[in-house]
Amino acid sequence: MQVLAIFAHPLDDSLCKRLFDEATNRLSSEGHSVTIIDLYKDGFNPVLSKDEREQYFDDEFIPEELKHYQSELMKADTLLFCFPTWCLGPPAILKGFFDRLMKPGVSFIVLPSGDLAPNLTHIERVIALVTYGRARPILFWFGDPPRKMMTRYLKWFVSKTAKIHYLPVYNLHKPSELKIKKAIEKVRKAVSSKTRLS
Ligand SMILES: Cc1cc2nc3c(=O)[nH]c(=O)nc-3n(C[C@H](O)[C@H](O)[C@H](O)COP(=O)(O)O)c2cc1C
Repeated sequence: MQVLAIFAHPLDDSLCKRLFDEATNRLSSEGHSVTIIDLYKDGFNPVLSKDEREQYFDDEFIPEELKHYQSELMKADTLLFCFPTWCLGPPAILKGFFDRLMKPGVSFIVLPSGDLAPNLTHIERVIALVTYGRARPILFWFGDPPRKMMTRYLKWFVSKTAKIHYLPVYNLHKPSELKIKKAIEKVRKAVSSKTRLS
């Protein structure tokens, strides 16, 4: 698999980082090619500028600084996201990645009829590692936007047959070491069993 792994957390000692390292190291050790985009380390600017908004529907338009991300998106067959839930959504840096890259000519195409067609149909797998402070029932009541972003919104852009593996860890406001160990173990097992080459 050609994995593009996108990380959105500022702290190297976060649980997200541990989960991300576990997943990407495991995928690499199983023979997959893994390219990492660390949005904080890249200093990614999440703001969709006035200029970008004006040219948003121009298929040909893509800011120079985003071309590298576009090229990585087109090379991958698997996307891996890892991020914490902040104010019921992904960190702004990842939301901005979507705002700026999920545009016509990159992630979808506007047909002459005006209908939209997905343009990431080469992506056959999405893996999402998402952490939450609150418990699952509370998130369920709120509609769990990060879950829907990964399992419904993103699903539209990729291959119709793509597998979406949503791997959440809830209830992390004061996690015990045991809970953290279990979360890492869960990711290790899921990533291995779901992505084995065969
Ligand atoms: C700015 C901010 C906003 C947060 N908002 C939420 C939220 O809306 N829902 C939730 O379940 N947890 C929320 N949390 C808790 C984080 O999701 C939790 O600390 C994180 O997932 C734990 O993983 P980490 O150690 O990798 O950061 C928030 C935390 C921060 C810092």
